[in-house]
Amino acid sequence: MAAAGTGHENWSSRTAFILAAVGSAVGLGNMWRFPAEAGENGGGAFVLFYIFCVLLIGLPVLLSEVLIGRHGQANAPESVRRVARDSKASEGWSILASMGVFAAFLILSFYCVVGGWVVYYIGVFVSDLFQTGLSGGAFEGRAASDIEGLLPGLFGNGGLMVGLNLGFLAVTMFFVARGIASGIEWVAVYLMPLFFVLFLGITIYGAFTGNFSDAVAYLFTFDFSKLTGEVMLAAVGQAFFSLSLGVAGMMTYGAYANRDTNLAETSGIIAGADTAVAMLAGLAIFPIVFAAGLSASVGPGLMFQSLPIAFQAMPFGSLIGLAFFVMVFFAALTSSVSLLEAPTAYVFEKFSFSRPVATLIVGLGAAVLGVLSSLSFNEIAEFRPLGFIPTFAEANFFDALDGVTAKLFMPIGAILTCIFVGWIADAKLIDDENGLDGVLHQTWRVLVRFVCPVALTVILLVGLFG
Ligand code: PFF
Repeated sequence: MAAAGTGHENWSSRTAFILAAVGSAVGLGNMWRFPAEAGENGGGAFVLFYIFCVLLIGLPVLLSEVLIGRHGQANAPESVRRVARDSKASEGWSILASMGVFAAFLILSFYCVVGGWVVYYIGVFVSDLFQTGLSGGAFEGRAASDIEGLLPGLFGNGGLMVGLNLGFLAVTMFFVARGIASGIEWVAVYLMPLFFVLFLGITIYGAFTGNFSDAVAYLFTFDFSKLTGEVMLAAVGQAFFSLSLGVAGMMTYGAYANRDTNLAETSGIIAGADTAVAMLAGLAIFPIVFAAGLSASVGPGLMFQSLPIAFQAMPFGSLIGLAFFVMVFFAALTSSVSLLEAPTAYVFEKFSFSRPVATLIVGLGAAVLGVLSSLSFNEIAEFRPLGFIPTFAEANFFDALDGVTAKLFMPIGAILTCIFVGWIADAKLIDDENGLDGVLHQTWRVLVRFVCPVALTVILLVGLFG
């Protein structure tokens, strides 16, 4: 239903808003990237610094983004323009959100590539369930190198990579084209609870059948000697990606929030839920991986290679493997929907297309980039699109998009958001939106005005030149 005077649909309830925003935040970033990053960066020190970043940088920026959206009641650039206009500031600040919308589009294109891998593993476990049966371990009689080889095997098959990528994108487009209530909200309201049920089940399973105590020790023993600059940078980048920040996604979702929603409280719930899921993802994956005697520090292969090998020795291995990847699929879809919604809302409001046409235009663009990303693991592996920039000299197409969004767009978008909300926008307007008072309000202002922009600038510079 269109909300009075806004010209667009709003969330039907506060719960729907929370589920959709948590759905955006919780995704491949939590299930795939967080455990891999924690494993590569030494466990506990990374985890502690990650929590620190969520509280001191992520949460204040998250609140800043949703409040801009809620005040503006429009696509992200238009929302910033309205806040600027109501603050008698330059409307040129909308550039921060235009960059964000573009970054969301770029992320969408490669996010759907990884979404396609998840679909592939669903297929792998379905067929394994038929072959191995219900109760034994997965992949009966197959060598570990065979299981590990599934991912490189997929990378070698360009046609399959492209097909899976476009399939995942098409499902995302289907829901965004249907609009807020019957598309985006529907996905969040049905899939997020299912996600949580499967997720808790798998965590409990991991705790009972896997090596839970080693996993807890690994994730929560803080060895400060391991806290290097590189680890800190990885932690803050991960916090931003996981909270969907710096790319206009949360601004766009904030625009559909009702006036009586307390944004500070809601932001706290979103950040809390996202962080809890990341921690629990570590506590679901590492016990299983450790029980199989495998290493934590393999990076991106952790979820797609080590975990399937670990399922081989577990009771009900194929079934749990299937449940695991279905769960990751749900989490990924609620995130990709938000990545597509940010540019779609812009195209559809700015150029007065219908929502389905706007979805199609953005989706086709993402498909073109997605095909290039899909092929960058084999067919065009030598193509270095940003070879002229030293930081990205070695990056293939997929890595270049990942690097440029995480190292450039996200921090720059967030720095500009902090400056805009903390220094440029009218303080009274901001205070009317943010739902904070007393000490919390003071703290938030100090964080947004000083701590976040300074910390983010350091991160940006170290990320680019360090
Ligand atoms: N937060 C998502 C994840 O952790 O997988 C990724 C993401 C979604 C980033 C939406 C940015 C965004 F706007």
